[in-house]
Amino acid sequence: MNRNKLTPPATLDTRGRPMQDLRISVLDQCNFRCPYCMPEAQYHADYQFLRKRERLTHDEIFRIARIAVTLGVTKLRLTGGEPLLDKRLPELVARLATIEGVDDLALTTNGILLAPVAQALADAGLLRITISMDSLDPDVFRRMSGNRGEVGTVLGAIAAAERAGLGPVKINAVVQRGINDHTVPDLLRHFRGSGHIVRLIEYMDVGNRNGWRMDQVVPSRELLKIIHAKWPLRAVDSQYPGEVARRYKYLDGQGEIGFISSVTEPFCGACSRARLSADGVLYTCLFATAGTSLRDPLRNGADDVELAGILRRIWHAREDRYSELRRPDEREFPLVSKVEMYRIGG
Ligand code: GTP
Ligand code: 5AD
Ligand code: SF4
Ligand code: SF4
Repeated sequence: MNRNKLTPPATLDTRGRPMQDLRISVLDQCNFRCPYCMPEAQYHADYQFLRKRERLTHDEIFRIARIAVTLGVTKLRLTGGEPLLDKRLPELVARLATIEGVDDLALTTNGILLAPVAQALADAGLLRITISMDSLDPDVFRRMSGNRGEVGTVLGAIAAAERAGLGPVKINAVVQRGINDHTVPDLLRHFRGSGHIVRLIEYMDVGNRNGWRMDQVVPSRELLKIIHAKWPLRAVDSQYPGEVARRYKYLDGQGEIGFISSVTEPFCGACSRARLSADGVLYTCLFATAGTSLRDPLRNGADDVELAGILRRIWHAREDRYSELRRPDEREFPLVSKVEMYRIGG
C-alpha cells in the first residue's frame, strides 16, 4: 500500500467536515433479501436492477476514486448490494490499492461468496473486511437474510478471512426488537476471545421500503446495560476521528465490541463519508433524497480537473445531518423519498 507522500488540502463542507472516506457501491444486486434492506416482496425475481451499461465500469470507479483522493479522501470501502457478486472484484481492489494516498482499503460483505476469494482479495491489497451477521441462530439468521444463506457459510467466511490475514474481522449485526435482540448474547459469547469485533447496529430508517418503526429499534444504551451486567465493559477511545462505532472492551480481556447508534446517538458532527452508487451518483448522506451524477460528465468527456471541480462543489455545498435532525420521538416513517441502502451500501 502506498502511503501519503503529499497530503492534499482537505475539502471541507459547510460544517467544516472533511471529505475523507469514499464508500463505493460496485453493484446494486444482492444474493440476500434482508427484510430491513431489500424486502423480497419488492425485490422479486422480475425486479429491474441496474443494467451493466448503467453501472460504472472498473475504469470509471478507479478514476473517480483517484480524483477523490486528490481532494483528501484516504479511506475507500467497497460495498454493494453484495460486492462479491462482481466476479472481478479482486482486480478492482488491486487497482485501487495502487492509488497513492489511500491508507485504508476495506470491504463490506454478507460473506456468502467470500471464502474462495478471501486470499485473492488480500493478495490484491485489501486491508480489512466487515462481514454482516445478524444472528447465530439458524432460524433467526434465515429470517433476517430473507431465507437465503446459512450461518455455517458465514462462519466459514470469517475463518477464511482470518486465514488470509484480513483479521480482525468486524462483524456487523443489525439489532431488531423482537426479531434477533434475544440472540445478541449468544453472538457475543461466540466471538468473545476470538479477536474479531462484533458491532451492534441500531436498526435505521434508511430508504423507504422496510417499514421502519421506532419501536423496532433497540437503543444501544439498553443493550449496553444488559451486556455489561453479563460481561463488564469499559469504553475505549475511537480509533480515528469520525468513527461510527463506539468501542468497548471486555474487562476480562476477551476483546472488543462496538455500538453503532445512529438513531439514538447520532454522529453527524464528524461525518466525513461520501457515497458513490453503482450508477455513479455521488450522495453526501446515507439518508439523502438526491445525489449528483458523476457518470454523466464522465461519459460526456469531462477531464480530471472538471471532475475534481464537480466533486469539490458537491462537498462544499454539503449540509447533511439527517440523524441529528430526526425527531427523537419520530414514530412514523417520514414521507420523503430517500435513497435505498442497497444502492449505497450502508
Ligand atoms: P470502520 O471503517 O471499520 O470503522 O467501518 P465503518 O463502520 O465505517 O463501516 P461499516 O460498513 O462496517 O459501517 C457499519 C454500519 O454503520 C453501516 O453499515 C451503517 O449501518 C452504519 N453507518 C456507516 N456510516 C454511517 C453514516 O455515515 N451514517 C449512518 N447513519 N450510519 C452509518
Ligand atoms: N439499519 C441498520 N443497518 C442496516 N444495514 C442494512 N440495512 C440497515 C438498516 N435498515 C446494514 C447491513 C450491513 C451494513 C452494510 O448495513 O446489515 O451490515
Ligand atoms: Fe444484501 Fe446487505 Fe442489504 Fe442484506 S443488508 S439485502 S446482505 S445489501
Ligand atoms: Fe453522515 Fe448522514 Fe449518517 Fe449523519 S445521517 S452520520 S450526515 S450519513
